Amino acid sequence: MKHISSTFQLPCGISVKNRLVKSALSEALAEPNGRPSEKLFKLYERWGKSGAAILFTGNVMVDKDHLVNANAMIAEDDEFLEDYKKLAELAQAHGTQLWMQVNHPGRQAPVNLDKAPVSPSNVKMPSNRYLEPRPLTEDEILDLIERYGNAALIAKKAGMSGAQIHGAHGYLVSQFLSGLTNLRTDKWGGSLENRARFVLEIYRNMRKKCGDDFSLGIKINSADFQRGAFTEEESMEVIQMLDAEGMDLIEVSGGTYERAAMVGTMHKESTKQREAYFIDFIGKVREKISSPLMLTGGFRTAATMEEAIENGELDFIGLGRPFCLNPNVANDLLSGTIDSCPVAQLSTGVEKLDRSGAMETPWYVFQLARMGHGMDPDPNLDVWDVYEKITGKQRPSA
Ligand SMILES: Cc1cc2nc3c(=O)[nH]c(=O)nc-3n(C[C@H](O)[C@H](O)[C@H](O)COP(=O)(O)O)c2cc1C
Repeated sequence: MKHISSTFQLPCGISVKNRLVKSALSEALAEPNGRPSEKLFKLYERWGKSGAAILFTGNVMVDKDHLVNANAMIAEDDEFLEDYKKLAELAQAHGTQLWMQVNHPGRQAPVNLDKAPVSPSNVKMPSNRYLEPRPLTEDEILDLIERYGNAALIAKKAGMSGAQIHGAHGYLVSQFLSGLTNLRTDKWGGSLENRARFVLEIYRNMRKKCGDDFSLGIKINSADFQRGAFTEEESMEVIQMLDAEGMDLIEVSGGTYERAAMVGTMHKESTKQREAYFIDFIGKVREKISSPLMLTGGFRTAATMEEAIENGELDFIGLGRPFCLNPNVANDLLSGTIDSCPVAQLSTGVEKLDRSGAMETPWYVFQLARMGHGMDPDPNLDVWDVYEKITGKQRPSA
């Protein structure tokens, strides 16, 4: 595994120990007020020994009034700085880096948590789990750019190695980029250049606050996979704009919580078998930009990972669900102890539910909770048990 084991130097000058990265996984394990908890310390202490080059935190919220899920970490000011320092210390004790993923849900905030969601425009999520968002004012947009920058600075002050903008999966940055959710007619909407202004200003503000020697990156969709939304061509253009700004790492994913492409539920069988859902896109990106590239979604075999790095298609392999099932997965792949890291084939037997991917995230979140309690993951965890716990409803057959 000579290629995935090799070190890499980021544009900011920081060296990374290998090419295997734990992508962001929302843990839902913080205290109710967003403070990093003992459970998070336990989980990250374990992942710190996983052999990964970088661990991205699950998405950390920039505004306590707008959350993606309950028990998300929050980074608004220095209130939890000591806790973030402890998280960084535990995660980074063995040469693995910790980067904070910074996020705001925008309209994709569940109604039980957000009675006044905001977004670039008032385009509602189709599901009744979400309320119609109110369009942000210009002052609020400027305040949000500050908040993303402040969160990155908190990551730096806590001793983390970097910060990542969550620009994917239909959250606020994605909503600005998408022509479906951004109908603004001011300088924050309309042309792609205007729709990309929010993310570019966030990046510039983070860089200004954190300096040139701090690692900054973004996770961005190759496409939203919805008519009228962010397309591959648009993504390519935005990635080129980000590249010109001097990003340390661009991670490519895809989809939104309406079209869950990030976990593969809507890909053709042939794409899933080939691994790495967005690999064709990243090959095209590679020809146009020089920023380091990471691809997340579907990587399962060491041979495919090794080949992707050897071919120079990308620089880092992002793994999500494998880290939920095997907290030592990077060491195991690098040492050859395992040659693949398959994920669970979850099935409720209800086709519509399975196709929607709705049980995918909660089932894996339960695995993270097990590790937060000091237990091992349980690959045999019953998906209907998880369903009953999160919905409070009984399984249909009962
Ligand atoms: C439980 C769970 C939580 C996730 N939380 C986040 C998140 O906070 N931020 C993010 O960018 N992606 C999140 N994702 C998506 C993963 O980072 C990754 O893109 C996806 O799982 C595909 O990679 P994989 O095929 O290796 O699992 C989450 C995925 C799962 C399963």
